Amino acid sequence: MERIAVLTSGGDAPGMNACIRAVVRSALNSKMDVYGVERGYAGLVKGEITRLSSRSVSDMIHKGGTFLNTARCNEFKDIEVQRQAVEALSAYGIDGLVVIGGDGTLRGAKDLYENFGIKVMGIPGTIDNDLAYTDYTVGFDTAVNTVLWAINNLRDTMHSHDRVGLLEVMGRNCGDIALYAGVAGGAEYVIVPEIPYDLDHIANSIKKSYLRGKTSNMIILAEGAGNRDEIVKHIESKSGIGVKVTNFGYIQRGGSPYMFDRVLAARFGYKAVELLKSGAESCAIGIKDNKIITVPYSEISKAEKKFDKRLYDIAHVLSL
Ligand code: ADP
Ligand code: F6P
Repeated sequence: MERIAVLTSGGDAPGMNACIRAVVRSALNSKMDVYGVERGYAGLVKGEITRLSSRSVSDMIHKGGTFLNTARCNEFKDIEVQRQAVEALSAYGIDGLVVIGGDGTLRGAKDLYENFGIKVMGIPGTIDNDLAYTDYTVGFDTAVNTVLWAINNLRDTMHSHDRVGLLEVMGRNCGDIALYAGVAGGAEYVIVPEIPYDLDHIANSIKKSYLRGKTSNMIILAEGAGNRDEIVKHIESKSGIGVKVTNFGYIQRGGSPYMFDRVLAARFGYKAVELLKSGAESCAIGIKDNKIITVPYSEISKAEKKFDKRLYDIAHVLSL
């Protein structure tokens, strides 16, 4: 393999730049030419491909977002659109691809491999941590730390005013951001899509906490767990206590990556190039028990994401 390309796709995540850097510098170290594809699969289809050098990734390791840009490209599910991407790769003489993104991105990689035999290594990069085959995705740790910063600030003001605060966080259908930020931030309640919740119970227990002398409470709500306004209305009407709402929004998707994401990005990027160099079959790269793993694309859709119920229980025991 002499010429490879790298792209980022789906929602951006802190650490994507560090990962591109790792791919570029590992490839150059192995005497490969390396190209960057702009705007994920959308750019690949249009042939938005440029040569990268070691200097292209200078001063990138600490930057959030992705300097290659990213996009959602629904048309890429169509095999004829995928064919255009394959033609673009062939026009540049590119014989190996590294994609960095979430589960949609890895599905695109699977299609390129299964439909056209393209050598493509998939690196999990998403703040959601919603991929079952890997313990962590690039971007998750930084997003959680950013949410934690918000929880700390909210606690200050909620505590000062004896208020109940609800912070809505991202994660699509996965409650990991809410869970980890909730545990680390000492939230009283974590509401996630994976575990059924009882709003009457939450309302009653908030009311009781006031009688016990605890006058502020934090609720972390994962976006996929239900309608925020209905949840707030329910808790307010059953408890008789007002709830102050914050939607943290896109702030949690940006920012300089923390150590964990930078190191993960380095390990994943290096591994992707090593696999391409060795002529290995296309696969997704992940981490299990701190070991870098590779998983065939045909397996990753079968794996079922396990929610850490024990950590969820611990969160609620510790918040009494
Ligand atoms: P993420 O990769 O973060 O999960 P998306 O779900 O938006 O983000 O997927 C990113 C891109 O991957 C999509 O815009 C599309 O180009 C591609 N993609 C998603 N699902 C598929 C699929 N089933 N087949 C082929 N490509 C897909
Ligand atoms: O996948 C990352 C993510 O930020 C999810 O947490 C969220 O549901 C979604 O992307 C938002 O997507 P968009 O950027 O299209 O609004």
